[in-house]
Amino acid sequence: MLIAPSLLSCDFAEFKEEIIRVDAAGADIMHLDVMDGHFVPNLTFGAPVIRKLRKYTEKPFDVHLMISEPHRYIDDFAAAGADIISFHTESDSDISATLDLIEKNGVKPALAIKPKTDPSVVLPYLDRLYMVLVMTVEPGFGGQSFMPDMMPKVRFLREEISLRGLDTLIEVDGGIAASTIAVAAQAGVDICVAGTAVFGADDAHQAIDELRALCKTN
Ligand code: DX5
Ligand code: ZN
Repeated sequence: MLIAPSLLSCDFAEFKEEIIRVDAAGADIMHLDVMDGHFVPNLTFGAPVIRKLRKYTEKPFDVHLMISEPHRYIDDFAAAGADIISFHTESDSDISATLDLIEKNGVKPALAIKPKTDPSVVLPYLDRLYMVLVMTVEPGFGGQSFMPDMMPKVRFLREEISLRGLDTLIEVDGGIAASTIAVAAQAGVDICVAGTAVFGADDAHQAIDELRALCKTN
């Protein structure tokens, strides 16, 4: 299991130090939540901030776009140093054209789905996806409760990925903690995003180690 701390829960006044801290704590991937106050009822940061942070870690930047028109900003996020860009199937952008743009920029493409979205919407694109992001909370805020009823979607996607012989990764995002990560691991998740569970802990290293260990013993 790869652990991707969500920087949404870090101290934004110390963004650089927080990245360095979770890198040293053993984060596999840096999850960066971009919100536009329109697709979701919250605002965070954009490409200029990501560009400034890029030099403080060599870990992959997993940019989760919760914005209405992702196609307008793909070039910016790619230039800022995103390694993975996920955008929502529920956004206003044409899915295929937006995937084209991400690929053209040499970035790994991912599609994200909200809790009420049927996972079959990603099937026509599965062969070209690096990752599918299954939301386990309503996007917009950290610190919400994990929705275990999203696990059938993970199982459905896992089965389809293996039937097609693909190596597409599955990521879950929202409410991942020591009490919930084993359920995600059993369903076949590859990457767990964790905000509160990492940044709310006294010791981020211990928190990340514990999350990983809970996947192995179950
Ligand atoms: C929610 C974001 C998540 C969030 C996860 O819209 O996409 O990445 O930060 O935070 P926790 O782990 O606290 O649920
Ligand atoms: Zn996210």
